[in-house]
Amino acid sequence: MSGPGAAAISRGLHAALAAESEDRIIYDLAGIGERYTTLVEELPGVAVRFAMKACPVDEVLAHLAAMGAGFDAASPNEIAQAVRTGVPTGRIHYGNTVKSDRSIAEAYRSGIRDFATDSLEDVGAIAAHAPGARVFCRLATSGEGALWGLSQKFGCSGADAVLVLEAARAAGLTPAGLSVHVGSQQMTTEAWQDAFERIGEVLVALRRRGILLDHVNLGGGLPALGYLDRRGDPLDPPLDKMFVVIREGIERLREIAGPGLVLVMEPGRFLVADQGAIKAHVARLSSREQLDGERRNWLYLSCGKFNGLYEMDELQYRLVFPSHPDAEYVPAVVAGPSCDSDDAYAYEHCRVQVPVTVASGDPVWILSAGAYAGSYMTQGFNGFDPLPYGWVRGETAGVR
Ligand SMILES: Cc1ncc(COP(=O)(O)O)c(C=O)c1O
Repeated sequence: MSGPGAAAISRGLHAALAAESEDRIIYDLAGIGERYTTLVEELPGVAVRFAMKACPVDEVLAHLAAMGAGFDAASPNEIAQAVRTGVPTGRIHYGNTVKSDRSIAEAYRSGIRDFATDSLEDVGAIAAHAPGARVFCRLATSGEGALWGLSQKFGCSGADAVLVLEAARAAGLTPAGLSVHVGSQQMTTEAWQDAFERIGEVLVALRRRGILLDHVNLGGGLPALGYLDRRGDPLDPPLDKMFVVIREGIERLREIAGPGLVLVMEPGRFLVADQGAIKAHVARLSSREQLDGERRNWLYLSCGKFNGLYEMDELQYRLVFPSHPDAEYVPAVVAGPSCDSDDAYAYEHCRVQVPVTVASGDPVWILSAGAYAGSYMTQGFNGFDPLPYGWVRGETAGVR
C-alpha cells in the first residue's frame, strides 16, 4: 500500500482516503481529539485555546469545543466562527496583536473581553473601543529552533511589556496576562526554557509595580510529529522532553506569581497537522536534463503550494502511492500543478522516492497535512481550485 516513509494513519482516515475519488483534504476528528487528550494529560490544568488559523473547519472546532477547548481568534470573522460553536465568549480571546479600531470594537460587541497586545498604541485603542477589557501582553521571542520563527512582527521586550501593562492599568483596562510564542514547529527545549526565563523576569518586575497577573499564555509552537525536513529526513522533535520542560517552567512561574496563576496554551499545528491528509492525484512524472547537466525526475501533483501545500518549501510531507504497493522507486523533486516555480519542494533535494511506473491520474495521499493546509489556499490561482474538505470520526464520514 505505502511507499517508503509512510506514517501510521487511523483506519478511518485510511478508508476515507481510499474511498475518495476527487482531490480533498480529510480530517480525522477522533485523532484530533486524541491529541487534545494527550495535551491536557501531559500539562494538567492548562487551558487550551485552539489557534483557529491552523484549521478553521467547523467540524474540527465543534469537536474541540465539546472536549473543553476554547479558541485563539485573530480577526472578527474568526471570532464569529468561534462563537458559532457555542463556546462561552470567556473561552475565546482575540490573540492578534494587530487590530484596527474597527476590529476591536466589533470583537467587543461580540462579547470578547480578552485581548492580546504589545504596544502602547494598541492599548490606547483597546481602552477606547473595548473599555474595561482584559489585556495580555505578548513578549518577543527569538524564534530560534523553530521552522517558522515568529520573532519580528509580534511581541515586545520585557521592559516594554511593563510599560504596556502599566499603561493598560492607567487606562482602566485589566492587565491580566503575558504571552509568548516560541515559533511554529519549534524543535528545541531550549526555546521553551528561554521563554520561561523571560516570563519569570517580567512577572517579578510587574509585581514590584503592584501588577499581579492572573494568567500566562504559552502560545503555540508544539510540533507535529510526522513531517520530513527539506531534505526528506524525518523531523524528530523531542516532544516528551518539551512537556517536561513546560511542566517545570509552569511550576517556577507559580512559585513567582502564586499557585493561582492560570496557564493557557494556543496550540495549532500539534493538534491537527498529523490528523489531516490530502487525497491528490499525479499529474505527471517526467525527467529533464537541467542546465547544470543533471537529469532530474520531477513528480507533478494536482495539489501544491497554492492549493494545500503552502509550507512545502520548508518541509516535505510523507507521500503514499496506494496503487503502487511494491514498486521500484526513483528519486524525484515534488512540485504542484501551477505555472509558478515556487510551487515545489526545495529542488536541490531530489530525494523523494516515487514509484517509477506512476502515471498521470494515479492517486497519491499526502500525510500530516492537517495544519494550515486548508487556510493557506488561494482562490483558484492558475485556475486550480482550493481543496474541498471532508472529515471522519470513527466509522462516520462527511464531506463539504
Ligand atoms: C498568536 C498565535 N498563537 C498560536 C499559534 C499557533 O501556532 P502553532 O501552530 O505553531 O501551534 C499561532 C500561529 O501562528 C499564533 O500566531
